[in-house]
Amino acid sequence: MHTILILGGYGNFGALISRALAQDANLRLIIAGRDETKARNFALELGLMGEQGVALNAEVTALSQQLRALKVNTVIHTAGPFQGQDYRVALAAIAAGSHYIDLSDGRDFVANIGRLNVTARKADVLVVSGASSVPALSSAVVDFFQPEFSRLDTIQLGIASGSKTPGLATMRAVLGYCGKTFSHFENGYWKGIFGWQNLHSRRYPAPVGRRWLGYCNVPDLALFPQRYPNVKTVNFHAGLGIPFAHLAVWACSWLVRWRIVENMAKYTKPLHWLARKLESFGPRTSAMHVELNGIGQDGQRLTRLWHIVARQHHGPYIPCGAAIALAHKLASGELTERGAMPCMGLVTLEEYMNALAGLDIRQIHG
Ligand SMILES: NC(=O)c1ccc[n+]([C@@H]2O[C@H](COP(=O)([O-])OP(=O)(O)OC[C@H]3O[C@@H](n4cnc5c(N)ncnc54)[C@H](OP(=O)(O)O)[C@@H]3O)[C@@H](O)[C@H]2O)c1
Repeated sequence: MHTILILGGYGNFGALISRALAQDANLRLIIAGRDETKARNFALELGLMGEQGVALNAEVTALSQQLRALKVNTVIHTAGPFQGQDYRVALAAIAAGSHYIDLSDGRDFVANIGRLNVTARKADVLVVSGASSVPALSSAVVDFFQPEFSRLDTIQLGIASGSKTPGLATMRAVLGYCGKTFSHFENGYWKGIFGWQNLHSRRYPAPVGRRWLGYCNVPDLALFPQRYPNVKTVNFHAGLGIPFAHLAVWACSWLVRWRIVENMAKYTKPLHWLARKLESFGPRTSAMHVELNGIGQDGQRLTRLWHIVARQHHGPYIPCGAAIALAHKLASGELTERGAMPCMGLVTLEEYMNALAGLDIRQIHG
């Protein structure tokens, strides 16, 4: 039996991961969060024993002893936001001799996880950061198409979400960089841009249709220019399902940029409440795109356009695919890689899609 502890296991994405892994009889799951009642109740809802729901706080120093006492083989950390977090959960997992996977979308958090490489190798464990849509799925798509290119020039990425409200941690993360400056690689130079600006629309395959998009700060902006060394441009946009909500966030980005508002993350709770109220007015569909441009193996210009399209509010399962696939690979012993690294090259596109099997989610290759 491989024991997997999901920190934030009854949260938005944590619950979806827990649900998927609970189907595997070879895994023993432990649902963890700061609220013992919620953890126990969710464990029972999944058909597990009440004791498989435990109270655990990511911030306590005793975390590694607790993980050891629970005989945890792999920790899945979903208790974001990761922006501004240190590596205490990963270090506690390493000290307890457990593998570690997180869903981080924190740019620096994911990009610098390699700092734990030596420690993780000494403990003979795998530490993976960013096991989610970015950079795990995005890099799996680029890796899939890369052999078709003799030179890859541009990588354009984006996510158009549906109206299903994400968890507080996700909202806090994306509002945290609203109107704040960060850099991306454009035409071979690092350029300063502002979160949720560059308002424009893009047409996604039916039934998603046209969506508003704006700049978001994700690990890929730092990681891809290194992973794909000849690339000249890497950009990432995201959009909210409800047009009014997207335009409101865009307007707020100006308030932050003009220093009228200090940080939109302060307003996460009321905005989260409002988003839940508006859910039924927005689309149940969502999509992600990866567009690659460069020179093909035949010397001609080549464009590859990939989409993933989700219906019936199944979009929120997409960020969970990497953690599910990695958990299965670690438990089966198939994944023997050790050390600390961003989640790139560990899950193939096929494995990622297999983890989402049975959902109303499909890929479109162009
Ligand atoms: N890389 C990507 O592509 C990607 C995509 C989507 C989401 N994400 C990230 O995924 C993360 C999770 O998002 P979500 O929507 O699932 O958030 P969420 O619903 O707020 O879930 C967070 C969970 O963590 C628990 N938690 C919070 N602080 C904790 C602590 N100190 N110790 C233990 N547990 C704690 C919460 O429960 P309690 O408050 O009761 O403890 C909750 O169950 C976010 O940080 C988001 O940015 C990444």
